[in-house]
Amino acid sequence: MTEKGHREWNSAVYHRLSAPQVSWGKKVLSRLKLRGDELLLDAGCGTGRLTADLLEALPQGRVVGVDLSQNMLASACDHLTKNSPRVKLIACDLLHLPFQRVFDGIVSTAAFHWVMDHDRLFAELHRALLLGGWIEAQCGGGPNLRRLRDRADALVATPKFALFFRNFREPWLFQDAESAAGTLRRAGFSDVQTSVEPAPTILANAEEYSEFVRNIILMRHLANIPREEDRAGFMAALTAQAAEDAPPFSLDYWRLNLRGKVPL
Ligand SMILES: C[S@@+](CC[C@H](N)C(=O)[O-])C[C@H]1O[C@@H](n2cnc3c(N)ncnc32)[C@H](O)[C@@H]1O
Repeated sequence: MTEKGHREWNSAVYHRLSAPQVSWGKKVLSRLKLRGDELLLDAGCGTGRLTADLLEALPQGRVVGVDLSQNMLASACDHLTKNSPRVKLIACDLLHLPFQRVFDGIVSTAAFHWVMDHDRLFAELHRALLLGGWIEAQCGGGPNLRRLRDRADALVATPKFALFFRNFREPWLFQDAESAAGTLRRAGFSDVQTSVEPAPTILANAEEYSEFVRNIILMRHLANIPREEDRAGFMAALTAQAAEDAPPFSLDYWRLNLRGKVPL
């Protein structure tokens, strides 16, 4: 896979299927205590569904959305009010942020677990914030998707698939609350609060489950399998197992909440 392939998403499908992420994100946004004129960073903004909510909560404020995926940013550009002077979208890696003491606050949802170096990530975010600035974020954490990951690991180890996954490593970092608090403090954040909560999610049927898992959770796995018929076989095996769960087609999501401040 190309370097670009590692960062890309099917943004049209994500935009259509991301109801679970949007509902978790709306809960994160509801915790914000905003004046309404802040300059905020939406870190890993995706297709901008929650960036739009942030803009609405900031009648005199502005939002910068950053994301590594050009597809996601193109969809965000379509989704957000065209040419609004209050929103700017920038393609960049959260590990290389071009900001120093700029933002009043940082909001991020469902993105940080895709970044494997959290010490570097939170150092970058800390540097992007003004003194007194804050971060309110959520990502996958704790035992997130343990059942599905165990099943995917077992399939990856079978003779049919092992060859495709020789140098493969899971593309996520799921921290628990305690280790995440340590990471935030090491980066210089104060008033740190972290917690992990279950977010079980049930898909309606086999088709929805398969499309969701294929495009949103396991796309980096599937990208290792060259032939479509084998990719379909991989998904069919996981979907058949999910059909036997109680309730069927449920995903064992867990979310890690993160909060901190840059001392004055
Ligand atoms: C599951 S989507 C979440 C999008 C949006 N925040 C939401 O809640 O719907 C994760 C996003 O994080 C972005 N992302 C992952 N790693 C990144 C990195 N290192 N730098 C910038 N964005 C990154 C992905 O491109 C993707 O758009």
